[in-house]
Amino acid sequence: MQNDWHLRPCLFRQAIPNFTPLCNIETLVEMASDERIESRLVKYSSISTNQPAKTEPSTPAVNWQLEHGPFETLPPLSTPNWTVLLQGVDQHLPEAYDLLQQFRFIPDARLDDIMISLASDQGGVGPHIDSYDVFLLQMHGQRLWKIGPVEQPSWQADCPLKILQHFNPTEQHLLNPGDMLYLPPGYGHEGIAQGTPCTTISIGFRSPSAAELLGNLLHDLADQIQQDPKLAQLLFRDPQRGVCSTPGELPEDLLHFTQTLWQQHQPTLDHHLHSLGRFLTEPKPNVYFERNTEGLSAEEICTILGERGIALNMATKALFKGKNCFINGEKIEIEEEDTLKALKKLINNRELTEKDTFCALKNTEFRFFIVGFAKAGWVGTLI
Ligand code: SIN
Ligand code: CO
Repeated sequence: MQNDWHLRPCLFRQAIPNFTPLCNIETLVEMASDERIESRLVKYSSISTNQPAKTEPSTPAVNWQLEHGPFETLPPLSTPNWTVLLQGVDQHLPEAYDLLQQFRFIPDARLDDIMISLASDQGGVGPHIDSYDVFLLQMHGQRLWKIGPVEQPSWQADCPLKILQHFNPTEQHLLNPGDMLYLPPGYGHEGIAQGTPCTTISIGFRSPSAAELLGNLLHDLADQIQQDPKLAQLLFRDPQRGVCSTPGELPEDLLHFTQTLWQQHQPTLDHHLHSLGRFLTEPKPNVYFERNTEGLSAEEICTILGERGIALNMATKALFKGKNCFINGEKIEIEEEDTLKALKKLINNRELTEKDTFCALKNTEFRFFIVGFAKAGWVGTLI
């Protein structure tokens, strides 16, 4: 982390010794047909050109096609040049979820998801850059990674994917199952499947942009302002003024009125924290939590959890900061120190042992929250 993170690519041969695939090819094909999983199919075919060679190294003329899933059928693996990309696999496959936990040397707020690609021979998504750090872990077969810095990226025109127009790789590495490549944000890369099938796991990180963060904060601020009755009643009124001789001019005092309002409604540290906490724990649009506590009373839910411990659902996003806890886009208003302690432990470890749960459930406030979470499908039993 100190020497390489964000700075340079790193190759980890046998990053995971005796690595066994997280799942088989049939499971990936099934996932591609699952509407709850975001999937994309990328195919390409070569275009023959008679254009003279350019001075700069240009990426080969290729006709790229992109389709969005779910896919009832995929092209046969014996047909070359295609790949299917499955997003958010950690929310569906326990083995992928467990793998993601090994990357918690980075805060959860920065972890995104696990994507798995399944490719036929020569399949790939072309030379590109990603805006985030990524670990590329080979699962089945082999992939050749061509990598190199990109100074000023430009994109191929009329292409459904963001393919680099010019890419001059400086290194290449052939990855076998268990090998892993780290790439910093903005580093050029192109992975080409060598033989069929080839599967690669991408452990991606989240790099919220300044525009995204500010946009979210302003949106939350606007919501709050709209709900403030004092502000709803505060209207601009003309100060004492004489007859206007320049009716086309925007009045100075109206400009001043808005400026003062803005100064009086600057976000506090609390606003920033709430907005950020909610934003970072907001589930992705396709995430659906299954409720399986129907027919159980709060008392029964607590008894079951007390005996078996609590685990956050694989898709649950949760963070804490100081006295604040956020779970799946909601801020939890906690009053008691014991509740806070137990929730922080649950969020940090993503689970609470039977013993810790049993103790924590003695607290009424903790019981109240945990029953709500269980009913929403956000938590389940640990064992
Ligand atoms: C792939 O797995 O084919 C693409 C992953 C990436 O380039 O980020
Ligand atoms: Co990439």
